[in-house]
Amino acid sequence: MFKSKVAELLGLKYPIFQGGMAWVATAELAAAVSNAGGLGIIGSGNMNGELLKKEIDKARKLTDKPFGVNLLLLNPFIDELVALLEKEKVSVVTTGAGNPGKYVERFKAVGTKIFPIAPTVALAKRLERLSVDGIIVEGGEAGGHIGEINSFVLTPLVEENISLPVIAAGGITDGRGVVAAMALGADAVQIGTRFVVATECIVHPNYKKAIIDSDARDAVVTGRSTGHPVRCLKNKLTREFDRLEKEGSSKEEIERLGTGKLRAAVVDGDIGWGSVMMGQSAGLVKKEQSAKEIIEEIFSEAEKIIYNLQSKIVK
Ligand SMILES: Cc1cc2nc3c(=O)[nH]c(=O)nc-3n(C[C@H](O)[C@H](O)[C@H](O)COP(=O)(O)O)c2cc1C
Repeated sequence: MFKSKVAELLGLKYPIFQGGMAWVATAELAAAVSNAGGLGIIGSGNMNGELLKKEIDKARKLTDKPFGVNLLLLNPFIDELVALLEKEKVSVVTTGAGNPGKYVERFKAVGTKIFPIAPTVALAKRLERLSVDGIIVEGGEAGGHIGEINSFVLTPLVEENISLPVIAAGGITDGRGVVAAMALGADAVQIGTRFVVATECIVHPNYKKAIIDSDARDAVVTGRSTGHPVRCLKNKLTREFDRLEKEGSSKEEIERLGTGKLRAAVVDGDIGWGSVMMGQSAGLVKKEQSAKEIIEEIFSEAEKIIYNLQSKIVK
């Protein structure tokens, strides 16, 4: 249907990754996305090896299709997780929060494909030298931890500076976003926020409702002063972050406020004081659907748009 080097390399029906989201992207969601023809990705967040092993085992019971694991390189258990993944030989590893350089050869040796996330051209160029399999380019519209450059500029900038396939992330929700990403040079897309409201996603119903009810302006950024900006729903927590940042509070104090807050939103449904991570694309997410419905809707829409665009050319 859609020509994509990454889809071909990984044996996917559709060139789409579901973002590996800490606490949110469990085996249930990852398996549902993989079963629907995309690449499901377990978000390992701050898990230790034992917890991640359980998720991988669960995913393997739920799907026989390829799936991935997202690693946060700042996780204190990172070495334990890398050793586990060497044994488990999952199809794909994606990495966030830094440069996975020292682990790349170990993954390649066991046949695991590796796709780091880059929010800047400079990091994308450094990562290309490691001979990874592609770069996930995440624009500042995205949910969760973000960079400053938005997808419309970042995707073509990275694409013209590297020769690896680019997977565009940040602000993509539907067929329009997929076609735009392809026009900007992406070979595949990664979507986070829309998959948070998938039926198979285990987040608390309050979290899903908050995304569905949100406007794009509700997805604000906190933590710029600490160097770790995060995009999430504007609520009591983000107002408190703003207050601390304006007062010039220490980085430690600001970071302490964030501790345990994503869990509070995901597990307890606390959308007032929890960190309801979501991207600006929340403004385009209108209902809960299964992962299969989401993916099929996106790509049938994309196909129609591409056909219709041809009629714009006046000969
Ligand atoms: C709730 C949430 C949690 C996230 N957690 C992670 C994470 O643990 N690791 C990571 O690399 N990216 C994380 N992300 C980013 C996503 O993987 C994805 O790149 C991003 O959501 C794409 O942009 P979108 O939200 O506009 O679709 C998270 C995003 C959200 C919304």
